[in-house]
Amino acid sequence: MRSLVVLEHIHKRHRLGSQSVHALSDITMQIDPGEFVAVVGPSGSGKSTLLSIIGCLDRPSSGGYFLHGQDVLAQSRRRLSELRNRRFGFVFQNFNLLPRLTALENVGLPLFYRRDGLRNPIARARLALERVGLGSRMQHMPGQLSGGEQQRVAVARAIVNEPDLLLADEPTGALDTSTRDAILSILAELRRGGLTVMLVTHDAEVAGRAQRTIRLRDGAIVGDSISLGTSSTSTIAEV
Ligand SMILES: Nc1ncnc2c1ncn2[C@@H]1O[C@H](COP(=O)(O)OP(=O)(O)O)[C@@H](O)[C@H]1O
Ligand SMILES: [Mg+2]
Repeated sequence: MRSLVVLEHIHKRHRLGSQSVHALSDITMQIDPGEFVAVVGPSGSGKSTLLSIIGCLDRPSSGGYFLHGQDVLAQSRRRLSELRNRRFGFVFQNFNLLPRLTALENVGLPLFYRRDGLRNPIARARLALERVGLGSRMQHMPGQLSGGEQQRVAVARAIVNEPDLLLADEPTGALDTSTRDAILSILAELRRGGLTVMLVTHDAEVAGRAQRTIRLRDGAIVGDSISLGTSSTSTIAEV
């Protein structure tokens, strides 16, 4: 099986005035289709930077990145934004919904950036909202929804283009535990439907839902373990 994502010796240095921050250091890893990967590590260890690079929101300073075997770093700016829109779904801690658009309009937004004249975008946005259990909230504005509901809208927006990979950065960080569990159940359901998920978290219980955990420290991978079964924490491989 060909890997979905292959990173080879990725480095990322952020410039900060005259200083340079080494945010990622020699990251080599791959993600196969259908995996549910948690990324954990202390604050500042490079988790968000890693997600941004995989999602083509940011470029590495050096190294190789292949998506479905295609050399991502050789693509034009225009092709990169197309990749971003079509191949990835993003979910962030603070939902990032547009406050003046309804739930349905927020979810439909990524469809309007497509160049391929998709038929029936509204029906597709509706379907995505139904998949996250919000069929009865389509015309609500974000301000009229609870935090958990807003995050479900964000998940619907992230899946509306049927991405290859869902990238979630602390998606439950702003939620209480019962709402957190509802979001995790939705992600688990999407994964059973074939979606590949990579999720950054501080929460050990959230990481426990993933079948693979990558541990970062100071920008480097210090652990990559696979657990047997969804609730098992037993480790069969530790780097
Ligand atoms: N845009 C930026 N400019 C300068 N430094 C950055 C920038 N983004 C992140 N960093 C630095 O890179 C390191 C990794 O950051 P980040 O990936 O956000 O870590 P995490 O998500 O694990 O908390 C940190 O030291 C952070 O301060
Ligand atoms: Mg972060």
